[in-house]
Parts: sequence; structure tokens; C-alpha cells
Amino acid sequence: MEKVKFRAMADGDAEDYRFLDAFEHQYYKGTAKRVLAELALQGDQSNQDGLSGYQVSRLEHALQTATRAMNDNADDDWIVAALLHDIGDRIAPQNHDTVAAEILRPFVREEVAWAVEHHGVFQMYYYAHHLGKDREARQKYAGHPYFQTCADFCERWDQPSFDPDYQTKPLQTFAPLVEKVFARPAWHVEHLRPNQVVGLP
Ligand SMILES: [Fe+2]
Ligand SMILES: [Fe+2]
Repeated sequence: MEKVKFRAMADGDAEDYRFLDAFEHQYYKGTAKRVLAELALQGDQSNQDGLSGYQVSRLEHALQTATRAMNDNADDDWIVAALLHDIGDRIAPQNHDTVAAEILRPFVREEVAWAVEHHGVFQMYYYAHHLGKDREARQKYAGHPYFQTCADFCERWDQPSFDPDYQTKPLQTFAPLVEKVFARPAWHVEHLRPNQVVGLP
């Protein structure tokens, strides 16, 4: 069998779906590599499009955010999340935070995924008032157990990481960590650690 027999999913049988399932599980093993390839594209200046104007590329920003997390002895979840928090920027610039969170969510602590998911509105604290908008838009999450975690992520690692002179580590430094985290069994409660507030180191 080289291809399934069906042309509409409703017509597939068990043989078809067992055949596809094997491919799918093989495909999962390449997620980390595909994510790293997407990140590398964010360093290609020809791909910057409307995100030009910063002193660093999106890749350099991602690497710098992850470097800060690593230098603070953050755990694997945090370092990989810091690296990938803006991974959605090329294809979902207006909801890049949610896209990044969904890529990470099966593999990292719930708290870390929440911080990535909401970093967009928390980052507004640093610039929104300059554009006549509400810098405290994040207050709609006041009282949430992960509020302070997200605020700290933005304050310590995300917002300062636009510095071309920072000693930023290269992508190769982080690639093994991305492989390691994406090799975890998806949605396993042991690494999701639901409802646990750990914060930043
Ligand atoms: Fe972002
Ligand atoms: Fe960012």
C-alpha cells in the first residue's frame, strides 16, 4: 500500500487509517526540526516584511529572550518557550502569541504556555500609552494565578531583548533543548503540571 484507497474520508477503512497513523507518528518526530526551520526564517532579512525597523531581527530577538532565560538558570520549558514565544510572527502577526502557545502547549508546563499565550497584551505595558492605547490592558487578567509569571516573563526576558549589543547565544545552543522538549509525550500531565505556579527563577 503506497496511498490510501479513499477519496473522501468517510470512505476510508481500518487499513487506510492504520496506514496513515504510522506516517503521522513518524511525522511527529520532525516537529522540532520544522519549528527550528521556521525560527531560522525569522532571521532572514528578506523575510522581515513589515517587521523591519527594530535594531535586531525576529530571530535575534528570540535568541536573546532565550539567552536571558538560560542565563537566569531557567528550566527547559522556559528556555524553549522564550525561544519560540514569537514563532507565529510571520504567518499570524496579529495573534502570534496564541499561535506560539498552541505549538508549545502539549509539551510544556501549563503556566509557561499561559505566559506565552498572553504575552502580547502584557507587552502592551511597555508601549501602548505611546500610541494612545491602554498600557494596563493586562489588568483584565488581574487575579489570575499566572498573571505575575507573565508580567515577569515580559519584564525580564521579552521586553529587554531588542539589544544588538547583548551577548546572544546562537540557535545551535538551543536546538538540542527544542528537540528534547518536543520529544516529550504530548499532553503528559507530568510536564503539564496543571494549576502549579512556579514563576521565573
Ligand atoms: Fe510577541
Ligand atoms: Fe517577543
